[in-house]
Amino acid sequence: MHSKRLLLAAFAAQSCSAAVSKARDDNAQCAKTTVAILGGGMAGVAAAQALSNSSMHDFVIIEYQDKLGGRVHHTNFGQDENGDPYTVELGANWVQGLGSPGGPENPIWTFAKKWGLNNTYSNYSSIRTYNETGYTDYSSLLDEYETKYKTTSDLAGTILKENYQDMTVRSGLSLAGWKPKRDDMTAQAVEWWEWDWEDAYSPEQSSLVFGIAGSNLTFNQFSDENNYVWDQRGYSLIITGEASTFLKKDDPRVHLNSRITKISYTDDGVTIYKDDDSCVSAAYAICTFSLGVLQSETVTFTPDLPDWKKTSIEKFNMGTYTKIFLQFNETFWPEDTQYFLYASPTTRGYYPVWQSISTPGFIPGSNIIFVTVVGEQAYRAERQTDEQTKEEVMKVLREMYPNTTIPEPTAFMYPRWSTTPWAYGSYSNWPAATTLEMHENFRANVDRLWFAGEATSAQYFGFLHGAWFEGRNAGEQIAALLNDECANITSTSEACGNVRHYEKLYGSSPLADYSVFDGWSVSSFYSSS
Ligand SMILES: Cc1cc2nc3c(=O)[nH]c(=O)nc-3n(C[C@H](O)[C@H](O)[C@H](O)COP(=O)(O)OP(=O)(O)OC[C@H]3O[C@@H](n4cnc5c(N)ncnc54)[C@H](O)[C@@H]3O)c2cc1C
Ligand SMILES: *[C@@H]1O[C@H](CO)[C@@H](O)[C@H](O)[C@H]1NC(C)=O
Ligand SMILES: *[C@@H]1O[C@H](CO)[C@@H](O)[C@H](O)[C@H]1NC(C)=O
Ligand SMILES: *[C@@H]1O[C@H](CO)[C@@H](O)[C@H](O)[C@H]1NC(C)=O
Ligand SMILES: *[C@@H]1O[C@H](CO)[C@@H](O)[C@H](O)[C@H]1NC(C)=O
Ligand SMILES: *[C@@H]1O[C@H](CO)[C@@H](O)[C@H](O)[C@H]1NC(C)=O
Ligand SMILES: *[C@@H]1O[C@H](CO)[C@@H](O)[C@H](O)[C@H]1NC(C)=O
Ligand SMILES: *[C@@H]1O[C@H](CO)[C@@H](O)[C@H](O)[C@H]1NC(C)=O
Ligand SMILES: *[C@@H]1O[C@H](CO)[C@@H](O)[C@H](O)[C@H]1NC(C)=O
Repeated sequence: MHSKRLLLAAFAAQSCSAAVSKARDDNAQCAKTTVAILGGGMAGVAAAQALSNSSMHDFVIIEYQDKLGGRVHHTNFGQDENGDPYTVELGANWVQGLGSPGGPENPIWTFAKKWGLNNTYSNYSSIRTYNETGYTDYSSLLDEYETKYKTTSDLAGTILKENYQDMTVRSGLSLAGWKPKRDDMTAQAVEWWEWDWEDAYSPEQSSLVFGIAGSNLTFNQFSDENNYVWDQRGYSLIITGEASTFLKKDDPRVHLNSRITKISYTDDGVTIYKDDDSCVSAAYAICTFSLGVLQSETVTFTPDLPDWKKTSIEKFNMGTYTKIFLQFNETFWPEDTQYFLYASPTTRGYYPVWQSISTPGFIPGSNIIFVTVVGEQAYRAERQTDEQTKEEVMKVLREMYPNTTIPEPTAFMYPRWSTTPWAYGSYSNWPAATTLEMHENFRANVDRLWFAGEATSAQYFGFLHGAWFEGRNAGEQIAALLNDECANITSTSEACGNVRHYEKLYGSSPLADYSVFDGWSVSSFYSSS
């Protein structure tokens, strides 16, 4: 193993210098590197670590923000009794699926233990239910949903195994007998807690097959536990911690505060342009931008991305998950409970899930509670001023606790993920009737430009561990290419060379009489190649 590595290092020196000198001809004024990693979140750091692990040290990480971590992002909020601020997570907050004895372990859980991250088991049975009249117990509906969900999940398994047509989660739940009436707002609240809260999209918008396969892969494969991270150093500690194992302090290979505006790619190399007009030319690049950033078209690709790639970028959905934080001078809600579910009498998903950080096991005495909205309700809240939103959430709290005099919050804050220019949303979701082939196109490289991140993971999209696996995979593939490990392997192999893609994707099996469509002109969009 060891001697093989040394031999490969010699190969690497050869092939890199060739590729870099080629790029140098085109862009004499640009800084040179072998691998440019675009974005320093979980995927970017994993990619860099994978390169380092393969003795490939000539890379740079180019990051918009002033720190590594990406969507694992905390900030100061409120104050403790000494007047010092608390730390709250605006982005990723849980380790989702831990691991079981003898089974595989979620790498994020491995890191949480390695870096001593303070976290606590999220007890989803520690819940009280409310509506506009106050506390009202509809928790039996949670059990009913869960029974029907089992049937839905089996149906999704059959569809996956038999390669039947996908459908929405709504259709799957309905077939399993979960059919909440539109005006049954308690059932709607329960459904939101069970589905929308995790996926940031409604059952109508989510793929049955890939939504449930993804959930299985995380919660059946690792474990069904979700641990909530409340470490005052911030969840990103695991990312900066891992980065510190192969990067020096203030490592010159990390370019912070660097906004990439243009990416020029060929089959010889990639040149990256920043907003300060500087540039980096590389033999290979790994783009880890969120799906939201790719969809925003704030970064220009030259040449224009091919149709199959553009289609795949627009085909997936970028969700928004907004946590609205409140601190009070006292904890007026039940201190022994982690979750409070509110059913609005008029609007599904209206400030539905409240979470106490003031509960034992978290940060008792912090008097912090937060409420989460997703989708349209998140966009609406993100458009509003703090004052408007504060008024709405305070009205909800006063409905939930009609017999309590609720003071004004001493601190109030929430992020605007949907308009944050380095994320444009929170995490991706797989829409119904979107095939695995389409996802492979989203994941595939174009020439020397690779793509990796949460959204490129078919198995773990939406999750932090998805970002880690994808970053590692891209880093390993490029290291293998550079180390010439691929010389004897065909270039269509998944492990080495290009990531598979399809120039054209067709509809499903032609059982029906498709001649009814005769006369339709197929747009030139699909006929280019
Ligand atoms: C609100 C919220 C809650 C979440 N909750 C959880 C959770 O509980 N558990 C979980 O597992 N996951 C959760 N996630 C998802 C998780 O945070 C992501 O899956 C993961 O952090 C994505 O990592 P990444 O490296 O793929 O992307 P990112 O972290 O987005 O990294 C990409 C990097 O690229 C940079 N960048 C973007 N544009 C440019 C540009 N033009 N120039 C230079 N740099 C640029 C960004 O600043 C960023 O650092 C949550 C996310 C959010 C937002
Ligand atoms: C790099 O190697 C270390 C040590 O073996 C390992 O812990 C880490 O997970 C590896 N990283 C990647 C991205 O493969
Ligand atoms: C979760 O909360 C429920 C309800 O309060 C309680 O009965 C159960 O023991 C808790 N489980 C754990 C693991 O703490
Ligand atoms: C509030 O107080 C009234 C009057 O004492 C009582 O009838 C009602 O049940 C209380 N409501 C709640 C939610 O505790
Ligand atoms: C999900 O897991 C359940 C329980 O193991 C299984 O019955 C079902 O077929 C799985 N579904 C998918 C889509 O993987
Ligand atoms: C971690 O938890 C311990 C025990 O509750 C606490 O004393 C410590 O301050 C916490 N550290 C951080 C960084 O959150
Ligand atoms: C809210 O709960 C109360 C008490 O259970 C009930 O009388 C009322 O009808 C509920 N409101 C709605 C909109 O269902
Ligand atoms: C919190 O503030 C309210 C309103 O100002 C006040 O009535 C209450 O006594 C305060 N609680 C504590 C614990 O100081
Ligand atoms: C590729 O195959 C040739 C001929 O079998 C062999 O000599 C060479 O070592 C192989 N290269 C790698 C990287 O495996």
